[in-house]
Amino acid sequence: MIPSSKTARDLLAFYAEAGVDTAIGEDAKDWLSGDEPKAAAPPATAPRVGGGDSTLAPGIRTGNAPAKAPAAPPPPTPDAAVMAAREAARSAASLDELRAILDRFEGCSLKGGASRLVFADGTPGSRLMFVGEAPGAEEDKQGLPFVGRSGQLLDRMLAAIGLDRTKVYIANIVPWRPPGNRTPTPVETQICLPFIQRQIELCNPEILVTVGQPSTGALLGIQGIMKNRGRWFPYRTGTREIRAMPMLHPAYLLRSPIGKRLAWRDMLAIKKALS
Ligand code: URA
Repeated sequence: MIPSSKTARDLLAFYAEAGVDTAIGEDAKDWLSGDEPKAAAPPATAPRVGGGDSTLAPGIRTGNAPAKAPAAPPPPTPDAAVMAAREAARSAASLDELRAILDRFEGCSLKGGASRLVFADGTPGSRLMFVGEAPGAEEDKQGLPFVGRSGQLLDRMLAAIGLDRTKVYIANIVPWRPPGNRTPTPVETQICLPFIQRQIELCNPEILVTVGQPSTGALLGIQGIMKNRGRWFPYRTGTREIRAMPMLHPAYLLRSPIGKRLAWRDMLAIKKALS
């Protein structure tokens, strides 16, 4: 029976509520049955995935090479993916190179569910850098971090201390949108961490602001955003030590406007540190 358009719409709404936001295939599959889906044979001109060029780190797709293997290789283990990420991130000599390397990196499964890489916004080399958690739906659409509702609040917070996006640099711990905006898993975070660490090193800011607990935990190893926001911590970029401050995430401030008072105090401390 062909479902009515209302039934189809209700079903789609149900899927969206449940966090399903990506169509994977035409045919329904019982994912709990344990049967592996048959891998489709790649087209003759498909780029090789992973490890094809011995000058590149494992996990990096080389492109344009003739396809030899009939099926894609199994995904790397988490440890192998973290190692590959470290090696790949280290090999980037500039932010442009890092972006290109990340775009080819196949070691993080989040990439498969995202529309595009969300690398950064703002001006490389800015004195002030913000690092959030992960792109949401709007960021995934536009390919830029913090452009949804919480990003608009971040813009207003910047304006309050006389700044705008062109005077700062903004990125996220994880550069691909997690499906349904879920929190990135610890493994996904660990795989992406070498890239954001290298991005900070290459941007070389004087002040790093970790936006929200996930970013603060990943970069500063600190738990407890309420207790630690507005405090300064040392952060080693790899070439020098800079000052880092955790701040409340704008998404939290939208839900709990009472926190804006604290965020305002933190923005003033950042302004003072820059002056
Ligand atoms: N929240 C984040 O942490 N990052 C974004 O880019 C958008 C929302």
